[in-house]
Amino acid sequence: MDVGTDHRARAVPASARTGPRRRRAAAGREHALDYPSGWFALALSSELARGAVLRRRLAGEDVVLYRTRSGSAHAVRPHCPHLGAHLGHGGKVEGEDLVCPFHRFAFAPDGSCAGAPDGAVIRGRLEHHPVAESDGFVFAWHGGDGTPGFEPPRSLGADLAPTSCWTTRLRAHVQDVSENLVDYRHLSALHGLRSAEPLVVEPDGHRLHTQMRMSVADRRWARPFTGSEISSWLEGLGCLRTKIRVSRPRLTLHLWITATPVDPGRTRVRVAFACMIGGRRVTLANKVLAWIFLRLAVKVVREDVPIWNHQRHLDHPHLTHGDEGIGVYRRWARRFYAPAPDSAADA
Ligand code: FES
Ligand SMILES: [Fe+2]
Repeated sequence: MDVGTDHRARAVPASARTGPRRRRAAAGREHALDYPSGWFALALSSELARGAVLRRRLAGEDVVLYRTRSGSAHAVRPHCPHLGAHLGHGGKVEGEDLVCPFHRFAFAPDGSCAGAPDGAVIRGRLEHHPVAESDGFVFAWHGGDGTPGFEPPRSLGADLAPTSCWTTRLRAHVQDVSENLVDYRHLSALHGLRSAEPLVVEPDGHRLHTQMRMSVADRRWARPFTGSEISSWLEGLGCLRTKIRVSRPRLTLHLWITATPVDPGRTRVRVAFACMIGGRRVTLANKVLAWIFLRLAVKVVREDVPIWNHQRHLDHPHLTHGDEGIGVYRRWARRFYAPAPDSAADA
């Protein structure tokens, strides 16, 4: 399960939800970084059927996800404005409305109260997170005043969605998890992959493009990628998408790795695959291949997990030859944090 009830969830004003980047020792934080702004995956679209209500965590708070009968997905802050019932515990979708279990006030997709069985309404509104669906994921925006600071992750193609997905919760910060993409030294040192040659680490606004070439297959899982140039895009700190063309057998793999800040120093990771042999149809063969590649990828990611779970974020790491991508990544990542209010005093 992604979430449970959090009785400690506080009503933090939206404007305060993205705080200073630096460690605030007085707050007793165990991690040096605050929550970044961005679009973060809360579920696969397939998990959120019409009429479904799900509970998720995002940046230290519960989020209630629901899909109306007409099919639109919504993410709201969890507590009913009438008397504070948690809509993720017994809330129901009726038509286009989300109905609170306590006194059955119904809330329309714009957050306004649409009525109750006796015809009464309240002025209070449900507060929505902006939501976007792309490539079979439901993303919600977190940060700033609640208005998205950049566009949602781009789709790799119409009708594209993962057919296999693995997820786990890490004791790690989302920035450190996504940093794995540009940490080329660990590919050989930790994963035993000596054949990956970095070619490009290139920031482009809120996106970061990377490219690497696989020369020889020194690990079994890497054999199909021999000779491939693998391009990846980080869409903010929360979504990595990669398209890989494999020559033998001839197929196209789509890989997504999403990282969602769920609580202080805790990240929900999802690794997902879709596979295309020829066209874009979802066939049994495509599903089986996606499942096999997912198993192989998860084997590799499991090698990272104990590192992430015990790593401490260093603001001033001692980087060396081969770590250049990390420097580029860290400078790019600063854009996702509000400046610290005391940064002038620090200077
Ligand atoms: S608390 Fe939700 S309707 Fe009363
Ligand atoms: Fe790794």
